Amino acid sequence: MSDRLAAQVLRRKSFRSFREDAPDAQLMEDLVDFLSGLTPPEPDIDWNFDTLPYLDMVKLCIKEPGVKAPMYLLLRAERKRFSLQNCGYLGEMAVLWLTERNVATCWQGSAGITRENDFPGSLPFVTAVALGYSDEPFRESASEFDRLPYDKLVFNRVDAYRPILELGRLAPTSYNRQPCVFVTDDRQRIHLFRKQKLFANPVTEFEQCVDCGAALAHLEVGARDAGYDPKIERLYPVPRFKKNLAYQASVVLA
Ligand SMILES: Cc1cc2nc3c(=O)[nH]c(=O)nc-3n(C[C@H](O)[C@H](O)[C@H](O)COP(=O)(O)O)c2cc1C
Repeated sequence: MSDRLAAQVLRRKSFRSFREDAPDAQLMEDLVDFLSGLTPPEPDIDWNFDTLPYLDMVKLCIKEPGVKAPMYLLLRAERKRFSLQNCGYLGEMAVLWLTERNVATCWQGSAGITRENDFPGSLPFVTAVALGYSDEPFRESASEFDRLPYDKLVFNRVDAYRPILELGRLAPTSYNRQPCVFVTDDRQRIHLFRKQKLFANPVTEFEQCVDCGAALAHLEVGARDAGYDPKIERLYPVPRFKKNLAYQASVVLA
């Protein structure tokens, strides 16, 4: 069983220049259908999303978005443990789906939307993704990525899982900080941990929980592409690896 989205991991990049023409209404409707059909890792947390054109996005934001794109995907979720991770997973699945359709994207973690300025009654805003067409090319190979080496992010390495783990390593992260650490075990499981600092900035931590969700999306499509039927689970007792690593979730391959 292959997964079409796995191939998009190597093509995806953060685009910072967009043309003015927006993706057509049918594509946006298909995106809505795709997202609506997804189940995030923590399925009982309420979430939803909006797709908004640039001018509507500007009205909601406290300052102009960092990149000017014709459309934005906004992800919202009730504030519960792992709701940020859910949004990272959902947003990155949307990013890969859009990449497959040659739509350029850029995560917009810096988009500031306060409760007071948001649509009345909506769930709390978590994060956004800018999208549209670009004259910049998509990536052509893994060598174009600026990432830490495999052996700095992946531990207890099982060679057979390397193609899956490589997709995890290539996941986008806020400011390219790469807080995700992947640890495999001999029971067909990949455990995801987040690097934790003692006096961490809460804004950075918020973004890094979103990063972990994006990494889970990459592991899931990678595992499916490798022929597994993966499940994202939160194991108890919690797997431990190193002191400064906070357990996030596990991808159980079989
Ligand atoms: C959760 C998250 C938030 C991000 N926020 C921003 C942002 O506000 N502005 C921006 O230009 N890029 C943002 N990025 C993109 C990262 O800077 C980018 O993924 C990283 O530098 C790696 O580059 P790549 O995506 O081209 O592989 C964000 C990425 C993630 C995953």
